[in-house]
Amino acid sequence: MKRRPLLAGNWKMHTTVMDACELAAEIGKCSAGLEDRDVIIAPPYTVLSEVAHVLQGSNVLVASQNICWEDKGAFTGEISPTMLKSAGGTAALIGHSERRQIFHEDHALINQRVVGALRFGLIPIFCIGETLEERESDKTFEIIEEQIREGLAGVSIDDMKKMVVAYEPVWAIGTGKTASKEQAQEVHAFIRALLEKMFEKDIADSTRILYGGSVKPDNVDELMAQPDIDGALVGGAALNAESFCRIINFT
Ligand code: 13P
Repeated sequence: MKRRPLLAGNWKMHTTVMDACELAAEIGKCSAGLEDRDVIIAPPYTVLSEVAHVLQGSNVLVASQNICWEDKGAFTGEISPTMLKSAGGTAALIGHSERRQIFHEDHALINQRVVGALRFGLIPIFCIGETLEERESDKTFEIIEEQIREGLAGVSIDDMKKMVVAYEPVWAIGTGKTASKEQAQEVHAFIRALLEKMFEKDIADSTRILYGGSVKPDNVDELMAQPDIDGALVGGAALNAESFCRIINFT
């Protein structure tokens, strides 16, 4: 099955309003005319609405870096799906390793976010990945399976049609140490087989699985050539217009 490539940039806690508008404008320009792939950027909340405004009419979608499951209420520090949609966002990163590790978000909380995002019609970009210690003790598959089973608990086959999965090995994030194409492909194939077991073959075949962790202009092409890698979730290199434009124009 042919899956439409998806290139996503996670700006993390970077960019002032002015930086963000400039960067978004450049990305909008260099993705014009790219009809065979999707591009998403996830700016910080403080600039999301400006970025969405700059990108209006382009084919770049805007995502938040996290999302609450409730529509509104006493949830200090959170934003709701309705708020995101009103600011021009259509997707949300959920379960990023920095949320799991630094802010101690656990499986149950992440699952609540996934289910909530789906309830409001957002595209969840559900992130998973093992630490170096877990990889070195041969626990990669076990950890990935646990993250997926717990994070996607209660998600229906119909909802899975919207889901994007991002495999980001923690040891490859921001370290310049990319997983080799073989290492990444191996985990992506494992994830796809697991989705087939949990849901059905059509879901496994159609779900886009992105790779993240030190994706750069010089390794994107070989990663994207792997049969089960359908896109990239890019951190550092997404903050530079030239590198991100090269990444979205992968060949
Ligand atoms: P880097 O591309 O900087 O390694 O970050 C990856 C990431 O965490 C994207 O969500």
